[in-house]
Amino acid sequence: MKLTKKAVVIAAAISLGLSLAACSGTRGETPPQSASNEATAATGGFEAGSTIGVSLPWLGTQNWKEAETQFATALTEAGYKPIVQAADNKVPQQQSQIEAMIESGAKVLVVAPIDGKQLGTVLEKAKDAGIKIIGYDRLLENTTAVDAVTQYGSIETGRVQGEALLAGLAERKGAGPYNIELFGGGPADPNAPNFFTGAMEVLQPKIDDGTLVVVSGQVEFTQVATAEWDNATAQKRMESLLAGNYQDKKIDGVLTPNDGIARAILTACEDAGQDIPVVDGLDAEDESVVSIWEGKQYATVAKPTPELIAQTMVLIQALQSGAELPPPTSTANNGKIDVPLYELTPVVITKANAKQAFADDPAKLELLK
Ligand code: BGC
Repeated sequence: MKLTKKAVVIAAAISLGLSLAACSGTRGETPPQSASNEATAATGGFEAGSTIGVSLPWLGTQNWKEAETQFATALTEAGYKPIVQAADNKVPQQQSQIEAMIESGAKVLVVAPIDGKQLGTVLEKAKDAGIKIIGYDRLLENTTAVDAVTQYGSIETGRVQGEALLAGLAERKGAGPYNIELFGGGPADPNAPNFFTGAMEVLQPKIDDGTLVVVSGQVEFTQVATAEWDNATAQKRMESLLAGNYQDKKIDGVLTPNDGIARAILTACEDAGQDIPVVDGLDAEDESVVSIWEGKQYATVAKPTPELIAQTMVLIQALQSGAELPPPTSTANNGKIDVPLYELTPVVITKANAKQAFADDPAKLELLK
């Protein structure tokens, strides 16, 4: 798999005005006929060079920092006036940043919510002002004010995280049963429960048949979630799990929702004198790619930002020109409406496939030394 080649294909799709879903190898459930045919109508378009607002939740993980700079570049290169802001994980801050984008005359808002359910009022206000709204990387919940969401399949992301954990256990820890613990992401982020659901589709049967033993017994999302995706919170939970349950046991693996939390868990295990457990992750952050290459973190899941931005740009360009949006890859009910989803496919990276996966990404290849 060549990550950046795909980005090139998508960029070509943008310049040709082609439907991304038709040419980029996107996946997802086949949308119901109605969803694929009744693509969101872009009523009349808007002036080229208009203001586009991008509202990000925080800059606490590498993907959001990349999104901040790459959205500014992509929008500027396409002739728009970008306003790109991140909200430090504080919902009122994100609400007021979006208010200001509305005041600035933005024609499209690209929004990655801190809390999927807390932006309904401000987004309805934007919709009433004729602004188009695209959810980015995360679903916008409980609102009618969303035209589309671009993301990597969130259930699929969890599934491949679960599969990576199982593969790593077989590869590094011999025959089972295996002692494991489960971690989830920030509960306000609509991705986090979906990642966990996808992972448990893979892991639950192995818990049921005794291959996996969750020694703490903590298997509900509410028990394993990590408030605000905070690495230090995850590290503390891991430390207390080890102190309370693993004084006389080895921990073999940990289901891990992203790379920052993966590294925090590895630190806690090292500090407790445990052998390195099999840990997966998400985002292919540079530090984790290095860790994988050194044989510590077992896997990560890549969801490259350039491709997701390219996908979002396809939608913005369609809205600007007044064309219909391309058919979505699937839909998700957000509590109020069925939202058209434009999903890309996440890819597991281990030491075994890293060179091949990053073959067209010189910056990442540089880390594999
Ligand atoms: C994103 C991940 C990110 C996490 C924490 C999730 O919604 O999909 O890429 O690691 O938020 O920032």
